[in-house]
Amino acid sequence: MATADVGDDGYGDDPTVNRLQDRAAELTGKEAALYLPTGTMCNQIALHAYVHAGHLAVCEASAHVGRTEASSSAVLSGVSFHYVSAPDRGLMLGAQVAAALTPDPCDVAVVDLVAIENTHQVGGGSVHSVTSVRDIAAVCADAGVPFYLDGARIFNACAVAEVPVAAYAEPVTSLMFALSKGLGAPIGSILAGDEEFIREARRLKILFGAAWRQAGIMAAAGLIALEDGPKQLPEDHANARILATGVAELLPESVDPDDVETNIVFVDVSGTGRDSTWWRAQLAAEGLLVTIVGGRVRMLTHVDVDAAGVQAALAAWRSAAKVA
Ligand SMILES: Cc1ncc(COP(=O)(O)O)c(C=O)c1O
Repeated sequence: MATADVGDDGYGDDPTVNRLQDRAAELTGKEAALYLPTGTMCNQIALHAYVHAGHLAVCEASAHVGRTEASSSAVLSGVSFHYVSAPDRGLMLGAQVAAALTPDPCDVAVVDLVAIENTHQVGGGSVHSVTSVRDIAAVCADAGVPFYLDGARIFNACAVAEVPVAAYAEPVTSLMFALSKGLGAPIGSILAGDEEFIREARRLKILFGAAWRQAGIMAAAGLIALEDGPKQLPEDHANARILATGVAELLPESVDPDDVETNIVFVDVSGTGRDSTWWRAQLAAEGLLVTIVGGRVRMLTHVDVDAAGVQAALAAWRSAAKVA
C-alpha cells in the first residue's frame, strides 16, 4: 500500500485501481469492473442504473439490499421492493421469482430487476448452488429482466461449491463482491458487468460522491485480497463450524452446526432466559465482540481469527453461560 502507484481515480488515472478493476473483470469473466468504497454503494448504483423511479426490484425478504439499504434506495432512486420469502435460509427459488415476475395487468407494479444474495447473510451464510442461480437466470431471461448478484461474500460460496467466481458471475447480468469482508482488505468492493453498465456505474459513482482520488493505496490491498483472500476461506468455514459446535454443546438447541455452511454463525439465545443484548454485553465483558441480527447473536470468522481465537471465543461463551 505504501509503495502503490497512484493517480487521480476521478479521471480513471490511478494505475493501481485500474489493475484491480482489470483483474476483477478477468476473474469474473465480465467485460469491465469498477472499484467502489462500499458494497452498499455497489448495490445502490446497480439499483439506480437498472430500476426506474417508482418501479420495483425483486429480492428475498431479508436481503441486505432490500432491508438494510431500503431507505437508501428510496431516497437515492425512488426504488421499492417486491419481497419473496424463501423456504430455506434466504435462498429464493426460480419458481418463486417466476411468480414475482408475473406481469401486473394494470402495469403499476413493474419489476425492473431481480437481485439475489450469495452467500445469504441473514440466512446464516447460506449458499446458492450454481444450478439454482442458473434456474433464476433462465426465469429472468424469459421475462427480459436483468439479474443482479449481491455477492458481498461470493468467494465464500465459491469455496463451498468449489467453483471459480466466473461460474457464479456468468449467469447474472452484473454482480458485486466485497474485498473488505472474507477476503481481508481494509476497504472496498467491486461492481462488475458489461462495458455499457460499468460506464454508467462510473458516472453514478461520481454522482454519488465517490470520485476518490489516490484510491490506489487501498486498491493495492484489494489486489492482494483478490489473490490470497480466497485461499483462507475453507479455514474460516472450518473455524465457524468449530465455533458452532462448541456453542451447541454449551447451549443445546441454540445453533445447529450443520446449518453453518460458511463463515457466519447465528446463535438463537431465546431459550436461555436471557436476551441477545444481555449476551452481547456479557460476551463483550469476556473480550468477545458479537453483533445482533434479527434478535439472534451473530459471529463471523475471518482472516484475523485463528484456531486459538475460536477457542478464546468459546471460553468467553462458557464464562457468560455460567452467569446466565
Ligand atoms: C450481503 C451484503 N450485501 C451488501 C453489504 C454492504 O456492504 P458494505 O458494508 O461494504 O456497504 C453487506 C454488508 O454487510 C452485506 O452483508
